Amino acid sequence: MRSVLALLASYLAVVSTSTTSLSKRAVSPGTLSQVTSFGNAPTKAAFYIYVPKALVAAPGVVVAIHYCTGSAQLYYDGSPYKTLSEQYGFIVIYPSSPHSGTCWDVSSKATLKHEGGGDSNTIANMVKWTINEYKADTTKVFVTGSSSGAMMTNVLAATYPDLFLAGIAYSGVPAGCFVSASDGVDAWNGTCANGQSSATPAEWAQVVFDMYPNYNGTRPKMQIYHGSSDTALLPNNYNETMKQWAGVWGYSYDEPDATKSNDPQSGYTRTTYGPMVEGIYAQGVGHTVPIRGADDMKYFGFA
Ligand SMILES: *[C@@H]1O[C@H](CO)[C@@H](O)[C@H](O)[C@H]1NC(C)=O
Ligand SMILES: *[C@@H]1O[C@H](CO)[C@@H](O)[C@H](O)[C@H]1NC(C)=O
Ligand SMILES: *[C@@H]1O[C@H](CO)[C@@H](O)[C@H](O)[C@H]1NC(C)=O
Repeated sequence: MRSVLALLASYLAVVSTSTTSLSKRAVSPGTLSQVTSFGNAPTKAAFYIYVPKALVAAPGVVVAIHYCTGSAQLYYDGSPYKTLSEQYGFIVIYPSSPHSGTCWDVSSKATLKHEGGGDSNTIANMVKWTINEYKADTTKVFVTGSSSGAMMTNVLAATYPDLFLAGIAYSGVPAGCFVSASDGVDAWNGTCANGQSSATPAEWAQVVFDMYPNYNGTRPKMQIYHGSSDTALLPNNYNETMKQWAGVWGYSYDEPDATKSNDPQSGYTRTTYGPMVEGIYAQGVGHTVPIRGADDMKYFGFA
């Protein structure tokens, strides 16, 4: 609970408190709207969507996933994606967690498996509905999130590599790190949060491969942000997540391609493990690494 409150406290600083009404209604461009029927929804995660007034033909889709104690509305208010959506014409999906405390389920066997019937499955179905409904460009489907939403970003990249072209995780943990030995749904895992779940790149990669056995297609490129002063999800989670995606892509974790100081800003260090995996370590930054919307657009290829 303390950790959850820490997550809340660190985010309250960045979200605004707009009170746009969220009544059930048809999707109307330029407003955050709820989609109540989108096919199979194995969990009660709610589906909110922002279709820009400036929607382009064959639009891209960005899934933007909130932190613990957050909601679709709070992430819509507190992140730059709705503005960027109007600028570039893509659709934003804001899932809303159904769990008390409103963290995402990144712990159960169901959610840590392709088509396993957990929250990851429900979110994937939101994406499929959107692609079909708006004739979206399936080569422009992306996922991002903060904290619990960053954990889910890694989980979705692992469980639905067939859907997502890229992921950007702000302050999360590796996919399969928050696992619950007793198969709890939305369970807290203090070992992982404290940065004490350590494995080799090959072991972390195997955790990903086991979430979708026999999958042999392409995988998303990944960008991982983490603050060195994060006291909610300790910084070793950055190292473990980099091991995981470097391992998945077959890059050397110990010998990255490049390490650049003061990139993308003073005090941050960008480490490139290979063309598809990079990490950005934010020196002196706590659990809230501010979203870099313009950079996200470049990473996703919109800018
Ligand atoms: C927490 O996660 C680790 C893997 O990161 C796992 O080994 C451990 O069993 C989990 N703890 C609980 C209490 O489920
Ligand atoms: C990849 O998996 C598909 C579906 O199981 C299979 O048809 C295909 O032969 C596999 N391709 C390779 C290169 O293994
Ligand atoms: C974790 O990564 C950071 C940033 O690259 C680095 O400074 C630190 O030494 C790493 N920690 C360990 C234990 O390797």
